[in-house]
Amino acid sequence: MVKILVTGGAGYIGSHTTVELQQSGYEVIIIDNLSNSYLSVIDNIQKITGTRPKFERLDLRDDEKTDEFFNHHTDLGGIIHFAALKAVGESVAEPLKYYENNISSLVNILKAMKKYNLNNLVFSSSCTVYGQPDILPVTENAPVKKAMSPYGHTKQISEDIINNVCLVSPIKGILLRYFNPIGAHDSVLIGELPIGVPNNLVPFITQTAVGIRDYLSVFGNDYNTTDGTAIRDYIHVVDLAKAHVAAVNRLVKGRHKHKVEVFNLGNGIGFSVLEVIRSFEKMSGIKLNYKIVERRPGDVEKVWADTAFANTELGWKAEKNLDDMTLSAWKWELALKNNR
Ligand code: NAD
Ligand code: WQD
Repeated sequence: MVKILVTGGAGYIGSHTTVELQQSGYEVIIIDNLSNSYLSVIDNIQKITGTRPKFERLDLRDDEKTDEFFNHHTDLGGIIHFAALKAVGESVAEPLKYYENNISSLVNILKAMKKYNLNNLVFSSSCTVYGQPDILPVTENAPVKKAMSPYGHTKQISEDIINNVCLVSPIKGILLRYFNPIGAHDSVLIGELPIGVPNNLVPFITQTAVGIRDYLSVFGNDYNTTDGTAIRDYIHVVDLAKAHVAAVNRLVKGRHKHKVEVFNLGNGIGFSVLEVIRSFEKMSGIKLNYKIVERRPGDVEKVWADTAFANTELGWKAEKNLDDMTLSAWKWELALKNNR
């Protein structure tokens, strides 16, 4: 069995990816410091797959402990590095926290990979690196624009670091640029665990519908789009997780064509905020209370992915449509309510 290290595996995307990896025959070891997740996620992964992933509570900022971990696990077939802080607004308020956490974790992993001769890395990047693209849909060759936040900047720096290291070492990297992940596992045993007031659209919609929030603020209806609200490319988290299995397969089976490869992971279709609300209302049967307010500073007008490269090279395609995704998010919110 090929062993895969999943950093941040107790988190939202990492937990779904662990499930898909296990169900594809990989053995998974998770590192997480539980700064934005809970140990119970590991129990729930076990409930879904029947196999408990190994778990190490470790802070990847700690270079000695990270080295020690790798020293005991020199047989890893690949590493998927999810662990990072991801709150855009917080990163503006506390930039050093983001640079320290996201960059030092990556550097410590790469140092260990080099030292212990581990050569397959999959990295969580983001469509945020494109800013507002000039041409839509956006391809992987579009220019990286000036980052809108320290968080986004950590993704750009991380991509640069991986490129530079791969150039002079046997390490191969796959950079996955996620668009907007939403939804949860069908079992409703894992999903995004909201801490505080959500920043993202879909958790805010479901929390409003369930009565935790009074109303949703729709940030701007004067954009140059069909209905005036901003457009994004939403992707179901399980589809996203499956793309990671495809990326790991590619590295493990030696099918990569370049030292560093970049893939857009989205649906390839853009939906406006109002379209997401309409889909949610249709699938939940609930009329959502919302108000149009000012634009949110830093938001781009519209972005969606050209997924042709991921479709052909990874042999992967997102399967869930918008209605599947809003229903999935709603079922997860109801499951959270029942456990509250
Ligand atoms: P998440 O917060 O749910 O998961 C990240 C996990 O990493 C958490 O469990 C956290 O405890 C852990 N972690 C953070 N810093 C750590 C450290 N120093 N040492 C060990 N563990 C640490 O986030 P997610 O939504 O699952 O995102 C996973 C990755 O995908 C992140 O790199 C994020 O930037 C990236 N990403 C997310 C989105 C999104 O919208 N969710 C979009 C694009 C990219
Ligand atoms: C989607 C749309 C909002 C909330 C962020 C990060 C990005 C990436 C994914 C990690 C936008 C509108 C939102 C609300 C609203 N993460 N909205 N009312 O901004 O595309 O991307 O998450 O890499 O880096 O910036 O996602 O879900 O916040 O917003 O009207 O209460 O919904 O203006 O048009 P975003 P989002």
